[in-house]
Amino acid sequence: MRNKVTVIGAGNVGATTAHRLAERGYADIVLIDIIEGMPQGKALDLYEASPVVGVDAQIVGANSYEETADSTVVVITSGVARKPGMSRDDLLKTNMGIVADVTRKVVAGSPNAILIVVSNPLDAMCHVAYEAAGFPSERVVGMAGILDTARYRSFVAEELNVSVQDVHAYVLGGHGDTMVPLASYTTVAGIPIQELLPADRIEAIIDRTRKGGAEIVGLLKTGSAFYAPSAAVAEMVDAIILDQKRILPCAALLTGQFGINDLYVGVPVKLGAGGIEQILEIKLTAAEQAALEHSAAAVEGLVDAMARLQ
Ligand code: NAI
Ligand code: 2OP
Repeated sequence: MRNKVTVIGAGNVGATTAHRLAERGYADIVLIDIIEGMPQGKALDLYEASPVVGVDAQIVGANSYEETADSTVVVITSGVARKPGMSRDDLLKTNMGIVADVTRKVVAGSPNAILIVVSNPLDAMCHVAYEAAGFPSERVVGMAGILDTARYRSFVAEELNVSVQDVHAYVLGGHGDTMVPLASYTTVAGIPIQELLPADRIEAIIDRTRKGGAEIVGLLKTGSAFYAPSAAVAEMVDAIILDQKRILPCAALLTGQFGINDLYVGVPVKLGAGGIEQILEIKLTAAEQAALEHSAAAVEGLVDAMARLQ
């Protein structure tokens, strides 16, 4: 049987993710949105591209969940996105209701799926999806670290005028202003970043990375980033569908790793057909550990705020 990937929310991130996945051809795709006709229209448009692209995937759009049954992977992008002046956290109240609702609906027909959460505020929405799904935590994973790391890698490559492919790094922590780019794990073709750039330039790149989402919102004015986010989601779907066992920074429920308990926080994980197959508890400097704990505390603040809103 072919794999099926459901993408909930056919807006900028959802539709672009569906586009990227459709061109992979390894899975059928179901695109869900509440706006009548919109997911159907985008899915039909994507399907009509397939003779040219040369893939044979079925791509359908719907406003209800029948077509999503037996999905291998479900990507949750439904909700509202940031506008200028809004933080990711401003989205909390609206998106927690939407994410809980769509999660309950989709897991009813896909009890074995792996959920990739994208809606913001990301780490808090992972908690919402995890609780609404009732799945083991290895099957509920959040996308943010790959995006934040991609931004960081791009800025390092631009600064050094080298290929982005040679820049390896991790950005851990929550998907917000407290995210933790790890200079100690940043290398260019194996060379530590500290040997290539002065400390003030590394700090400037880290600062731009932390503000990377807001930089795009400020330019677009009507929404937030979607090309890089959808590329990051597609990399996670690849890892799961193709059982690649990639080591990627993703939001995972920590149960004592890094001294953090019962919180979704971005950490390096092994991602494969089983979802999060391992959490890699890498060594951090004292400053990085403190920054990770600070970031986890920010996630905890959102989880507490959600409890008050319920
Ligand atoms: P968008 O506004 O373009 O699309 C959201 C879609 O969700 C809309 O089409 C809307 O009709 C739909 N929707 C709303 N309620 C729904 C429901 N109950 N069921 C099904 N669909 C529903 O927004 P965009 O740019 O696609 O962003 C989506 C979310 O992803 C936002 O919360 C955004 O902040 C977040 N995001 C997270 C990133 C991350 O790194 N984790 C990166 C980029 C965006
Ligand atoms: C981003 O980082 C808005 O979370 C989204 O672009």
